[in-house]
Formats: sequence, C-alpha cells, structure tokens
Amino acid sequence: MCGIVGYVGNRQVSQILLDGLHQLEYRGYDSAGIAVANDGEIAIRKTAGRVTDLDKLLEANPVNGSLGIGHTRWATHGETTDVNSHPHIGGNGEVVVVHNGVIENYQSLRTSLTELGYVFRTTTDTEVAAHLVAHHLEERIKLGDDADDVETCIRAVQLSIAKFKGTYGLGVIFQNFPNLLIAARCGSPLVIGIGQGEFFLASDASPLVGYTEKVVYLQDHEMAILTPHTFDLLHRDTGQQSPSIQTIDQVSSDSDLGDYPHYMLKEIFEQPTTVQNAMRGRLDLDEATAVFGGLNLDPQQLRRVDRIVLTACGTSWHAGLVGEYLLEEFTRIPVEVEYASELRYRNPPQTDTTMVFAITQSGETADTLAAMRECKRKGHPTLAICNVVGSTIAREADGGIYLHAGPEIGVASTKAFTSQVMVLTLLALYLGRMRHLSYQAGQRMIDKLQQIPQQIEKALECYDVVKDISPKYAHCNNYLYLGRLYNFPVALEGALKLKEISYIHAEGYPAAEMKHGPIALIEEETPSVFVIPRGSIYPKVMSNLEEVKARKGPVIAIACEGDEKIAEMADDVIYVPEVDEFLQPLITAIPLQLLAYQIALLRGCNVDRPRNLAKSVTVE
Ligand code: M6R
Repeated sequence: MCGIVGYVGNRQVSQILLDGLHQLEYRGYDSAGIAVANDGEIAIRKTAGRVTDLDKLLEANPVNGSLGIGHTRWATHGETTDVNSHPHIGGNGEVVVVHNGVIENYQSLRTSLTELGYVFRTTTDTEVAAHLVAHHLEERIKLGDDADDVETCIRAVQLSIAKFKGTYGLGVIFQNFPNLLIAARCGSPLVIGIGQGEFFLASDASPLVGYTEKVVYLQDHEMAILTPHTFDLLHRDTGQQSPSIQTIDQVSSDSDLGDYPHYMLKEIFEQPTTVQNAMRGRLDLDEATAVFGGLNLDPQQLRRVDRIVLTACGTSWHAGLVGEYLLEEFTRIPVEVEYASELRYRNPPQTDTTMVFAITQSGETADTLAAMRECKRKGHPTLAICNVVGSTIAREADGGIYLHAGPEIGVASTKAFTSQVMVLTLLALYLGRMRHLSYQAGQRMIDKLQQIPQQIEKALECYDVVKDISPKYAHCNNYLYLGRLYNFPVALEGALKLKEISYIHAEGYPAAEMKHGPIALIEEETPSVFVIPRGSIYPKVMSNLEEVKARKGPVIAIACEGDEKIAEMADDVIYVPEVDEFLQPLITAIPLQLLAYQIALLRGCNVDRPRNLAKSVTVE
C-alpha cells in the first residue's frame, strides 16, 4: 500500500506534500515523511505515526524548497519505526526515494550492495532501491557519463528498476538536481498532475484536486521525468511516449465529516442516498429491466455468457457472494465467487463464454487487479464493479459499472458493500430479463427495488437499540455471526466488520453449519448474532438459534419488525423492515455495521483507522 506524493515547480512544497499525504492516509498510516530539496541539500523529516505527527514535526522544524517527495506508509518490510519511515537515503544522500510496493528480491540486492560498501540503516526493502540508484549513478559517472546531465540520473533509475522483482511506484530526487523528479511504476499506481510550470505526483488523483484537472496515469514500466517546465514519459520497451492526458472528475466534497464523529458512521448513514445513486438512471420501467451504459458488450455477446466469475477481496468478496445467489436465482447462469488472491495463481477451467467481474471499492486492490489481468490475458471479457472513477481496475477493465457511492474513507467498508449488492441486483435483473425472467417478474423486482432507499432509512432507526444493547456485549472477546441463504454472506460481513474495527474474534458461518464444529465455542460469554429475517427458511434458522440457546449462548437477533416470536427466544432483538428475501442483505447489513461501530467505540478503538489496516491494499 503506502501513499506517495511529489511536486516540482515554484511553490513552497512542504504544505503541498503534507496536504497530499493527508488525502492519501487511507493507503497506510504507520508512518509519514517528506524530503525537500534546497540549495544542494535534501532535508528529510519523517516519523512513525500519523501524518498529523509529521505536521507537528514540521511545525517545530520547517523545511523550505520547491521540489519534494512524501510518503505515508503501510509497513510491509521492517517495523514501524522512525528510521524505517520513508523517504530513504541512497549512498551518502545523493539520492532520496519514496516507494510503494514490495521489492521481492531485496535480500539478494541488499547483500550485493553491502558487499559494495553500502551501509543499510533500515530494515526496509525500499532502502535497497535508494542505494541501488545511488550506486548506478556513481557507476555511470565513473564510466564517463556527465555528472551534471539529467540523462545520467534517468539511466541510473532505469538500471536499478531493471533489477527489481516485485512491485513499485517510485519517486526519486537527487541532491545535485534541485529541479528533477523521477517517477517509475510497476504494479503500484502513480498519477502525474500537470500544472502551469509545475508538476505533481501522487498515488491517486485526490491530492491533485484544487491544483489541476489534467492528469496522466502512469502505466506499468513507464517512467516520468519531471522538471518545472518539462514532462518526458519513457516506456521500458518502447522508449519515448506521448502522454495521454485525462481530466479528473473533481473529487466531491463528500470527504467532509459534517456533524458525524467518524467517517464510518457518516458512511453508514449515507446508504439511503448511495444505494439510490447506484440505481439512478439504471431502471428501465418500460422494458422492466436494468440498463448499463458501460458494459461495452452487445446483447448478443451477453446472451452467450454461460458462466460468470466474480472476483474480489474482503467486503467486496462478500458482496460477490450475495451476487452469486442473486445471479444464479434470476439468470440461471452458474456463478463462481473467487478470492482474487487465489484466482490470480489458480488455473480453474473456464469456458470460452465466461464473463469475469472484478468487484472493488477502490479499484486499486493488487490481488483483484492481478486476477482481472490474468482473466483478461486468457481472453475473457473482464468487467469492473468499482467505486473509484479512474482507478487502475476501472481503467483496465473492458467495461464496467460504477457504484457512484462517493468517497469511502472509513477503512471499514460499509456503503460500498450495499452499493455493490445493489449493482449486482440490477445486473441479475438485466441478465435475467435477457433469459428466463418475465416482464411481470422484472416489474415486480423494480417495484421492490425502488422502495429500498426508504427501507434503509427505516433500518437506520435501529441505531438507538444498538446503542442500548452494545454495553452488554462489548466486553466479549468471541462472537459468532450466523445466517442462511442471502444472509450467510451478510453474517460473514458482520463478523468482518466487528473484527477489523474492534479487534474481537468473530466468525461468520451458515447458521446450520454451526453444529458441525463452531457450536463447541458456545458458552455464556460468546454471543451469537443471528441474521433471521422472515423468509422461506425462517423456521430452520430458528431451530439453529434454539440450539445455541440450549447451550446458554447469548443471542442477538436481527429480525423483521413485528416478529414477536423472536423476542421470546433471543436475548436482544434489533428490528429492521421486512423486504423480499433477495433484497434482505441491503437491509440486514445495516444493524451489523452499526453494532460493530458501537462496540468498537465502547472499546476505545480507532474506528476509522484500525490498527494494521489500510483502506486500499495495493500489495500482494
Ligand atoms: O477496495 P476493495 O473493495 O478492492 O477492497 C477490498 C478489501 O480490502 C476491503 O473490502 C477490506 O476488506 C475492508 N477493510 C473491509 O471493510
């Protein structure tokens, strides 16, 4: 993961870098640092901790200059210490580097560089990059290259990255070149912002908003050579390129907290609107179907699809599981939901007419991107269900569907989940109507879908009950989350929410599977959260609930309004509006998000920035 920023121009750079790092903190928040070139010196300020700690460091010890790079870290190699924070120095300070990604062969490179006399001060893989560039710089000069020529620096970077195995987004500056910033990409996103007499570098476009709308997304094996008035783009294999300049959609002001104490709570409460936005303009009432502008496949191609693969990670994978149930029910097309981290290395048999969807909020998840590329390489149409416009996955997919959920900043994904489920429901309607689903059935689905935003609004009213009951359970260290059919993925998602922000062990299971093992965990201090709305298998789930009660396990039930029977069985009930079974995940996920939030709050956890996590997982 990690976030990178850079700037070359005429403005004072340190505040630009700091502001950018605040925007990118979702990518990692273990440590932060900047390097600023001035008067033949490169000043570095870096610290373990958040960007706010770096703010303080710079207040006490400012730096001046108009060329710089910055970094916010999600640690992969080396502990989260001041010294391991980026930027890293190469040689004796001739080169300074920030890096996002993993240099997999860093151990052997480190050994060779140590033998050459380079002294390693950190336990990171990145320091290898810094020393290697410094080494090649020195070598080139020894071989007669001009020490004052930018070409020598470019060559040093090229020779270095040619030795890396793994992934990198790099920002490199040089002590003797106070106007030169080099960026290189392989696997980790980088975007260049084009200003008037200035250029910006960042891991995504958000730090560029307010400075420029013109951007160039670097592709793998591309290098950008930036000075205040020049931008050269070089590709490893094809040499000089002409940059493809794009306009960024201005990031909406939704990134303000408003009156909410945390982004997670704000994003939970945005769901009536975000789900509506996912539907907006996509319902065709006349044809009783859905419409999508960006699938880039004609109806004949879509009609031939005989298998769908949904690939994703984390919460997006859970949305994919809901998608499997929906698509199989309404389209009768067989669906596989694959962990992207597995699919990228697996070689499952896929028919010629398999269609692949990568589901991702950020559009930058490394495993999802790799799985999508692998499927694309095999010739399958690859489509993205994605929130972040212009993200790598959105750009590389053959087509796709945007969530339009607005920026999701809380590390725990909430509104993206319900928007993904909504988009998958629309997809099921669309593909279903091309096959077995009648006009009347399509109309019925649309009627129900249109009521969902209001029903989510109603479901959010359960927050008062959640607040009341949470203190009773906040001390427990193990939880089971149980549901069946459409509510099995919801149970998985509820457990993930709790564990990632409260650090409580929680397992999601199909309710009936519990008796094949997890039931051994049931005891008075292990609550079971049953997702048990009315529906075709309500009595079955009720039997599972009774099995837990018989063993003195406390039960929190997520049930439909008006269900009085459940109140007799469960210790606590959180009521939500009743909806058709296929729409239940959009409603039953809400109380589980709120429950996780409230318990994390009671345990004093940092809800929006949970330990060890980052919003966007751009490493394997
Ligand atoms: O951006 P993506 O949807 O591809 O991210 C996938 C997962 O990393 C993400 O859903 C993660 O599991 C969240 N922290 C869950 O809340």
